[in-house]
Amino acid sequence: MKRDCGRVVVFDTTLRDGGEQTPGVAFGARDKVEIASALEEAGVDIIEAGFPAVSEEEMDAVAQVASTVSRSEVAALARCNTGDIERAINSGASLVHVFIATSDTHMHYKLRMNRDQVISRIRDSVERCSSSGIGTMFSPEDATRSDREFLFRAIATAVEAGGARWINIPDTVGVMFPPSSMFEMVREVHSAFSTDLSVHCHNDFGLATANTLFGIAAGARQMQVTVNGIGERAGNASLEECVLGGAEAFLGCRTGIRKDRLYDLSRLVAEKSGVPVQPNRAIVGGQNSFSHEAGIHVHGVINEPSTYEAFDPAIVGRRREVVFGKHSGINAVIWAFRNRGGMEIDEEEARAVLRSIKASGGRITEDEVVERFESAR
Ligand code: KIV
Ligand code: ZN
Repeated sequence: MKRDCGRVVVFDTTLRDGGEQTPGVAFGARDKVEIASALEEAGVDIIEAGFPAVSEEEMDAVAQVASTVSRSEVAALARCNTGDIERAINSGASLVHVFIATSDTHMHYKLRMNRDQVISRIRDSVERCSSSGIGTMFSPEDATRSDREFLFRAIATAVEAGGARWINIPDTVGVMFPPSSMFEMVREVHSAFSTDLSVHCHNDFGLATANTLFGIAAGARQMQVTVNGIGERAGNASLEECVLGGAEAFLGCRTGIRKDRLYDLSRLVAEKSGVPVQPNRAIVGGQNSFSHEAGIHVHGVINEPSTYEAFDPAIVGRRREVVFGKHSGINAVIWAFRNRGGMEIDEEEARAVLRSIKASGGRITEDEVVERFESAR
């Protein structure tokens, strides 16, 4: 696997796949603008603000996002039809993301179109976008379940229609397995076309992050993600996992993301979407993600954090914490006091604190331990 994959473009679709397509979530214009500002502040390159054909309110929300952000590019989604495309072009976005399904299942049961009809829609749509001078991204929806030869014909049509800046490969129902098959597919497309590629993976089998990273390793230059992985059904690849895993830990890519903003961004999206973040979620989870309780683990982390931490919590704006309970030992108590503003307690005091912790049986945070000690003094 590549170790230096260069600069990867982060395309965030929290406001479209996350906002419009997560069951029960619908961001209003004010929420979209607030989240878009936070995404821009966090260094997202492209913000997919919405799907203007859905309603006047959605069109207006996209326009408001486009007039608010200046450092991030704004994208708007459109099906391959004239009405959708004109609305997306007029929404204020600078990138129109046109899509049409290329799998037999979708073409037959949803679009009720044959292959030639789909091809001519792709040609007309990409031509219309490029003649308007707006940036264009083309997605063959359900690409990973499409007949490979037809998929290549669809992509070739978009490329030949001129002007498509990006070809996006969606794993629409999250079924690409093993992730090495995503690698192979993206590599094939990458070697056949010179247009920059993007990957868009859903999480129906918990494979969205793995498939995104394998797509990037195979040569895609853009990852499509959402904050907290919200999105249609089981959601999309999550921004925080893909950026940290892709950019930092495994592939050696760079992004423009300010990782110390990830936690606040995650809280904001959880609050506005009403979709809570599970306590043990990677990177942006509740305090569980960076807490240590078992005596052996705490001892290891106190001596050398890398014993039980994959990365320093401070990188993502978090703090390491020791949680006390029946597994706790005296070293952890002494460490917790030092960790809280350098308070030193002696061994006897630490033993008394430990007895009180064990007597209470439950999980106690560092703050609670210090408070108890101070009030018993
Ligand atoms: O999942 C999907 O296929 C999509 C497309 C619109 C890119 O969201
Ligand atoms: Zn999607």
